[in-house]
Amino acid sequence: MDRQEILEKQRAYLWPNHIVYYTEPLPLDHGEGLYVWDVEGNRYLDFFGGILTTSVGHNNARVVEAVRAQVGRLIHSSTLYPNANHVALAEKMAEITPGALQTSFFTNSGSEANETAIVAAQTYTDNREIVALRHAYSGRTSLTMSVTAHAAWKMGKSFSPDIKHAINPYCYRCPLQMTFPSCGIACAQDVEDVIRTTTSGRIAAFMAEPIQGVGGFITPPDGYFQIVGAIARHYGGLFICDEVQTGFGRTGTHWFGISHWDVEPDIMTMAKGIANGLPMGNTITTSEIAQALVGKGLTLSTFGGNPVSTAASLATIGALEEEAPPAQVAVIGARLREGLEALWNKYPLIGDVRGKGLMQGMEFVTDRASKEPAAQAVVQLFEETRARGLLIGKGGLYGNVIRIAPPLTASADQVDQALEILDHALAAVHETLGIN
Ligand SMILES: Cc1ncc(COP(=O)(O)O)c(C=O)c1O
Repeated sequence: MDRQEILEKQRAYLWPNHIVYYTEPLPLDHGEGLYVWDVEGNRYLDFFGGILTTSVGHNNARVVEAVRAQVGRLIHSSTLYPNANHVALAEKMAEITPGALQTSFFTNSGSEANETAIVAAQTYTDNREIVALRHAYSGRTSLTMSVTAHAAWKMGKSFSPDIKHAINPYCYRCPLQMTFPSCGIACAQDVEDVIRTTTSGRIAAFMAEPIQGVGGFITPPDGYFQIVGAIARHYGGLFICDEVQTGFGRTGTHWFGISHWDVEPDIMTMAKGIANGLPMGNTITTSEIAQALVGKGLTLSTFGGNPVSTAASLATIGALEEEAPPAQVAVIGARLREGLEALWNKYPLIGDVRGKGLMQGMEFVTDRASKEPAAQAVVQLFEETRARGLLIGKGGLYGNVIRIAPPLTASADQVDQALEILDHALAAVHETLGIN
């Protein structure tokens, strides 16, 4: 099928509310490592990895081989029958997650993983209310859209009244107009205020992403999660950590983002980078919490833990251990960050650079004093980077943040190439807008 035919069929047969990037959508054909090719044979350096999902690169040989072998053996069994990949992966998850996290429930997406976590927390604590953060993104089911705190991402009418939102630690646009560290992380206290003023006083959980992904890579300051974790527990709640974007070494140094804050969650959810693109979610918790759910209702997942996705996930983690362990991601991420800060020095449209490891964001503003969001500049930057062969992501409540998150196997050379393309693309955007 050529480009035109794909776009016509997309318009005719797929719901038009699917969001697609670029003024003229980009149909992809194949990939290899850090590169993807469109149907016309143009090559792109992929610095968004299918939304932080192709963690070990497109068509990673190890993952392809594991999937191929498993497809020829057994594609499906359901959770009614144990299989070796399923239990081996659960064991691996217990090994790489922090603290007492030990037992997994595999599903098919981040939304399902979060839904599973919320139901588990409510059942375990016998409390109903969940405190989440503004600017969160949690998924596309009704319950996870209730947790999501971006009006634009909430479709439908039946949001749960049990979800309350506290202000988030958005230092660049501090909701309290304060500055870190002199603020003393005052925003964290809002979690307590929300519990005391908008809930029954006993919560099921506090739920947050270590770095808010769709929110625009908003990165809480050191110390934040120690405070909010303690508040949640004081009011009877568990700490659910949504590692859907931040997991599997994405933030460098540690396997999971929350370890940068040295906090151990009671429940952790993950998806995206878990299986290099095969559909999978996981909700991992302590043995004690999982055991307490027994007898509280039957549950299964038809596709969860299926032999093919679990084979892909085991191969993905194996490839990460060998080709891109968290310590290496920290080094490559630091190189990327240094390059982005150099661009910040050069281009006034960039208001903020933030993130950790290979999860780096740049927030665009019309001027640095007013911090007026520059969403149109980001739209233009997308076209300019595409024209030069670089794929990036977008985010933020105002659509003015670019998200840079290549496969974790990115080399120093590839990071340098991406920075060079960004440099040229930014120069073009500044020139178009008449900004020096
Ligand atoms: C932090 C976070 N949680 C949950 C989800 C939902 O995952 P999925 O799209 O796999 O349902 C996403 C998706 O972007 C996410 O970024």
